[in-house]
Amino acid sequence: MKILVVDDDALQRRLLTGFLKKKGYDVADAADGREALAYFNQQPVDLVILDHRMPGLDGDAVLAEMKRLTPLVRAVMITAYGTVTTAVEVMKLGADDVLEKPVDLTTLLEKIQRIEQGLAVAEDAADVAETVDRKDLPINLVGGGPAMQEVISLVHRVAPTPWAVLISGETGTGKELIARLVHLLGPSSDGPFVEVNCGAIPENLFESELFGHEKGAFTGAAGTRRGRFELAVGGTLFLDEIGELPPSLQPKLLRALQEKRFCRVGGEREIEADVRVVAATNRDLRQLTTEGRFREDLYYRLNVFDIPLPPLRERKEDIPDLVDFFLRRYADRPVRFDPEALMTLSRYAFPGNIRELEHIVQRAVTLVRGNRIRERDLPPEIRFHQAAHQGTLAERLDAVEREMIQTALEKHDGVQTRAAESLGISERVLRYKMKKHGV
Ligand SMILES: Nc1ncnc2c1ncn2[C@@H]1O[C@H](COP(=O)(O)OP(=O)(O)OP(=O)(O)O)[C@@H](O)[C@H]1O
Ligand SMILES: [Mg+2]
Repeated sequence: MKILVVDDDALQRRLLTGFLKKKGYDVADAADGREALAYFNQQPVDLVILDHRMPGLDGDAVLAEMKRLTPLVRAVMITAYGTVTTAVEVMKLGADDVLEKPVDLTTLLEKIQRIEQGLAVAEDAADVAETVDRKDLPINLVGGGPAMQEVISLVHRVAPTPWAVLISGETGTGKELIARLVHLLGPSSDGPFVEVNCGAIPENLFESELFGHEKGAFTGAAGTRRGRFELAVGGTLFLDEIGELPPSLQPKLLRALQEKRFCRVGGEREIEADVRVVAATNRDLRQLTTEGRFREDLYYRLNVFDIPLPPLRERKEDIPDLVDFFLRRYADRPVRFDPEALMTLSRYAFPGNIRELEHIVQRAVTLVRGNRIRERDLPPEIRFHQAAHQGTLAERLDAVEREMIQTALEKHDGVQTRAAESLGISERVLRYKMKKHGV
């Protein structure tokens, strides 16, 4: 692995370079940002170790430029003690890790080894990718757009490996579905897929739930019980909402993962637990580690491979296919969405992502009488959301007016006198506005 050390402090630069050379790495160094970029432009570099504060081009700027040139370059940023906020920012910029001054060489070496391991995984996975067919998936899943294609290709690459996978994404983006896909495309697809919802199990029951217990281990433990870990042997253990795992259990889970063995609560015998682990989170786990709420070592253990799921608003190209998919699932007759209704959907932000879209389709199918779902059949939040968030003031007011008139007319079965009354306008004004809006 080729490492580039960038630091304006000559003493520290020499110290780091000497140390890493002694550890067998191929190391180059640069005294400032410009020199670093000049070198980077000419030689392949796998990892940069960057001082954050340097005169001229600072670490942020240098890293941003390197990432632009070579997105896969790995980086460790060296920052002044206690600057946690910048550490978070630096990670956002693409640094894999941050190290505080004064640099502890053992920690540095650990971090480098971790990055090295990740590089090896990525290379192996790329080899595996060549041999799998991308088309046939053992699960029903919509994802024709580029964002989902990327995800599916990532799943294909990582599924055959034994590495832990961390799926991250907002609520309803399909984390569980993707976890099942990892399982089904993996070597133990015949084995069980066992789910643990870390957010739903009370802390005092968690250990027994995960590892099981022996008879009489605690009051109420009438018989021996196998935990989820044991049930997942030969298959996949899906740790959902891993960010909610109580701190008291984090070291226990870590140990079981590291040693691939554990004991039931109240038990002496060690049980082999060779399971594939897939975790999911809708929180920023890395942020939780910087805040000290999630153990860093556990984070790295779970996140050997990261599959980020994009929110639906960033892959709107999939909306029409998803709508068709859910129509087939929920409609007992041929039903379709009007183009205007689809347009309205595509303008919506979907805070609940695919699950929210699923519910919208399900609701529309249930409520609509004919076989066409029109814009007005969509829930008001979605129609008004559009009205209230798009266009100029006049356009928005127009949209709101149109919306209210339509709703009032529907509510009063088209009786204009009553619709006008409920809107607080005269019938004459209502008719004028209906004409204006083409209602
Ligand atoms: N690509 C997809 N194609 C078809 N259906 C999907 C897709 N992704 C998700 N879904 C469906 O959307 C719903 C939500 O997905 P899922 O439960 O996997 O999301 P999640 O990310 O685990 O959500 P949460 O964070 O709330 O647990 C499910 O009914 C799932 O089948
Ligand atoms: Mg879920």
